[in-house]
Amino acid sequence: MDGGESVVKRRFWWGLGAGTLAMLYFLRREQRRRNLPPVQAEPEQARYALVTGASSGIGAAYALRLANEGYNLILVARREERLQALATEIKRHCNVEARVLVADLATPQGQAQVERAITETESLDVLVNNAGFGSQGDFAGSELPEQVAMHSLHVLAPMRFTRAALPQMLARGRGSIVNVASLMAFYPLPGQVSYSATKTYLKTFTEALALELRGTGVRVQVLCPGFTRTEFQLRADMEASNLPDFVWMSATRVVEQSFRDLQYGEVVSVPGWGYRLLAALACFVPRPWLYYVGVVMRDWRD
Ligand SMILES: NC(=O)c1ccc[n+]([C@@H]2O[C@H](COP(=O)([O-])OP(=O)(O)OC[C@H]3O[C@@H](n4cnc5c(N)ncnc54)[C@H](OP(=O)(O)O)[C@@H]3O)[C@@H](O)[C@H]2O)c1
Repeated sequence: MDGGESVVKRRFWWGLGAGTLAMLYFLRREQRRRNLPPVQAEPEQARYALVTGASSGIGAAYALRLANEGYNLILVARREERLQALATEIKRHCNVEARVLVADLATPQGQAQVERAITETESLDVLVNNAGFGSQGDFAGSELPEQVAMHSLHVLAPMRFTRAALPQMLARGRGSIVNVASLMAFYPLPGQVSYSATKTYLKTFTEALALELRGTGVRVQVLCPGFTRTEFQLRADMEASNLPDFVWMSATRVVEQSFRDLQYGEVVSVPGWGYRLLAALACFVPRPWLYYVGVVMRDWRD
């Protein structure tokens, strides 16, 4: 047998092995989800939820969903008019309170403002760390302030807010924290070095924390969406108009899946079957294959 043929054979067996493992993982996960009883309903009393990055996209969808569930809202972001408009809509349609907190969460001052709001709110039952932004381009040529802001927003802010919220949640024996990461938490991508690194941090942080919090009644989840129709790509100057329709999810669908997974105590929530498969594959395939995906993505971008 010549060298080329044996390489093809080896790749075939690797592929088959990885595919089988991914399928087994998938089936096992679905079986576990079906067997789990829903988490106990929380008591009917004034409940509060704080959502960062609520002025658009996934954050706004989360805020609306929580308001429909009867939570009073604290809406955080920088664009005040957007937040006020959402607060008005929520108060009109959902009969709950909605408060606006304007803060730049990439700054220590903005983070301290939100920490204060968290510790001063009695019965903060849900915290959604969603604020984030994307960027494109090689790390070496990037603007340092933008890199620092991304780390501050994706890493420091959720860590500080989670730390501020936990003592009260633990004392009450209930509460939920959702950290919005990305499918990129599974894939190291050139051109999005800090983005995939900070989202990977969020995933590991949440998974480790979930282990610590077992049996306390406090749930944590890391939400890892794929392409979602929001302002994200536009604001990050990403060319996404040539992507086919089927890769896109709506923010509402992403939030619905996150809610459902939270009910069933899923720590890692990946909305959409296709994206779930990609996430599962990333856990099983050898690292060099992941790097290959990164290289293909970079070539496609260039
Ligand atoms: N859309 C996707 O394809 C996708 C995929 C995977 C993960 N995600 C993640 O989903 C999360 C939400 O993004 P999105 O898709 O809903 O995009 P979006 O519509 O652009 O929303 C981003 C939100 O974050 C807020 N934000 C950004 N920088 C902030 C800062 N310095 N301080 C306070 N708030 C800030 C924005 O509000 P202001 O500008 O008003 O401050 C906005 O409300 C992000 O963490 C993102 O990484 C998105």
